[in-house]
Amino acid sequence: MRILGIETSCDETAASVVALGEDAPHILSNVVLSQIEDHAAFGGVVPEIAARAHVEALDGIVEAALADAGTKLSDIDAIAATAGPGLVGGLIVGLMTAKAIAAAAGKPLIAVNHLEGHALTARLTDGLSFPYLLLLVSGGHTQILLVRGVGDYQRWATTIDDALGEAFDKTAKMLGLPYPGGPSVERTAAAGDATRFAFPRPMKGEARPDFSFSGLKTAVRQAATAIAPLSDRDVADICASFQTAVSDALGDRVARALARFREEYPAVDAPALVVAGGVAANKTIRATLETLCTDNGFAFVAPPHALCTDNAAMIAWAGIERMRAGLLDPDAMDFVPRSRWPLDSVSVPVVGSGRRGAKA
Ligand code: KG4
Ligand code: ZN
Repeated sequence: MRILGIETSCDETAASVVALGEDAPHILSNVVLSQIEDHAAFGGVVPEIAARAHVEALDGIVEAALADAGTKLSDIDAIAATAGPGLVGGLIVGLMTAKAIAAAAGKPLIAVNHLEGHALTARLTDGLSFPYLLLLVSGGHTQILLVRGVGDYQRWATTIDDALGEAFDKTAKMLGLPYPGGPSVERTAAAGDATRFAFPRPMKGEARPDFSFSGLKTAVRQAATAIAPLSDRDVADICASFQTAVSDALGDRVARALARFREEYPAVDAPALVVAGGVAANKTIRATLETLCTDNGFAFVAPPHALCTDNAAMIAWAGIERMRAGLLDPDAMDFVPRSRWPLDSVSVPVVGSGRRGAKA
């Protein structure tokens, strides 16, 4: 089985060919063009600029993915494209391109949920079996999901306000650090004193399983305003204190989910927590999660960074998973892109939640 994947839900234009042979899957190509430079001057992703950049780049990226894989379109079994959630302009570009390729080549189309791509990546990279827990921490999502099977997810926790990546990005902007904020905050925090500011740990200890980051953002703003003008030392100390508060709050929420998993799945003797999303690159956060997993007898699975952030290999892989599970939608050619598309259709939106981040 050999599938071409296309991803255009945010600010990466990506295409990839993934093959599943007798044994393990192989990523034959994985081409990602980041638009970060196009958006940096605006301090965030501008949807119209993103959509236009996808239009300009996508055909070349698809050609490059096929060439890198040494594959002709006629050797491809299906075309999988991200159909949501994300910025609708970009989704339209990717899905329409995939429909055109599928129609011209006479191949099936698979409309993939971007979050399913993140959720199933650990099976591509680590051959993980169901069920497992996924912590998705990106610019647009902060969720803990129970992954029970292909197309079978249960959301255990989500953010009631900002996504974690968004909190990093806004903190960076507030402190005058360059976009994207996460890496800037982490770099700056390395020289800072994490004990100088006692920022709140939102939701810590609460029975409700969800996340919240907007109160922390406000506390950072107040602290920064109180001591302005900020020296480099002040900025570093704020970054370090913020990062520690975030790791601590995140660890508390994840610990709850690990305990719930143990309770609901006592028979799973090698439980695992998978992390995905750009924030998973943060070393302080990773170390906190790794320790937590070790202490609780969970394996900590972090796919390589390039497969944790947005890419098309995860979309092609989700297509393979759907195809071999017999879950192909016969009406995929009529699929309309969805800017919102929860993985767990049973979960109701949480009170106070608003999709404020641009990313998925
Ligand atoms: O997964 P991703 O590349 O794109 C989506 O949101 O789908 O995640 C991007 C987010 C941004 O908010 C960025 O600031 C954050 O991940 N990020 C980080 C780090 N690297 C990227 N946050 C904290 N520490 C990092 N090292
Ligand atoms: Zn993503």
